[in-house]
Amino acid sequence: MACIFETAPAGRPHMVNSIKRDHEEFRKLWKDYQESSDRTHKNRIINEMQRGIAIHNVIEERFLYPVVAKAPIDRAQHHADHGLKEHQQADDMLYPLQSLEPGTPEYEELLNKAMKKFMHHIDEEEQKFLNALAEALGDEEMEKLGKPMDEARPYAPTRPHPSAPDRPPFQTIVAMVEAPIDRLRDKIEGREFLDAERRTAEEPKTSK
Ligand SMILES: [Fe+2]
Ligand SMILES: [Fe+2]
Repeated sequence: MACIFETAPAGRPHMVNSIKRDHEEFRKLWKDYQESSDRTHKNRIINEMQRGIAIHNVIEERFLYPVVAKAPIDRAQHHADHGLKEHQQADDMLYPLQSLEPGTPEYEELLNKAMKKFMHHIDEEEQKFLNALAEALGDEEMEKLGKPMDEARPYAPTRPHPSAPDRPPFQTIVAMVEAPIDRLRDKIEGREFLDAERRTAEEPKTSK
C-alpha cells in the first residue's frame, strides 16, 4: 500500500483540500504516537511522519507558496515567506533525530519540540491563509492548481534536508534531485513505515 502522502486524496483535485488532508493525517499520526506505548509502532509513525513532512513541505514550496505569494489575499507575500522559513526550521529540527536513539530522553525532547512547532505551523496555515486562498481563487482554479501538485507527490523527497538553500526554485530543484536517493536509502536501510503493519494485518487473508 502506497504512502498516503504520496497519494492524491480521493475525488476531484483541489489544492487547499489536498493540503488540509495532509494536515489531518499529521494530527492523527502525532496523536497515535503520544498514545502508543509500543516502541516499534512509534518508530514507524515517526518514519511515516518524517516522510510525510518532507513530501508535504516540498509540494507546498513548489506549488502552493508561489500561488499564495501572488494571491489577492491579505499579507500574501508575508505568508509565503513565513511558511518557507518555518519549513527550514522544521528540517533543521528533524534532521538530527536520525542520529539519536529513539525513546531516549534527548530524542523525545527534540521530537516534542519539533512536533509542537510543526503542529503550530499547520494550524497557522489553515487559520491565516488557506481558506482565504480557496475562497479568493474559487473551485475551478483550485482544481487546476491541485492536479499538478498531487501528481508531484511521488517524486518529492522523503527525508529532511537541512542544508538545502531555502528559496525556491533552488530548494525544489535540490529536493527533487535528492528524492530518488532518499527512496533508495529508505530501501537499503530497511526503514519501516506504517504499511509494514498493514501488510502484516492483511497477510492471513492473502496467504492460502
Ligand atoms: Fe507549510
Ligand atoms: Fe502545510
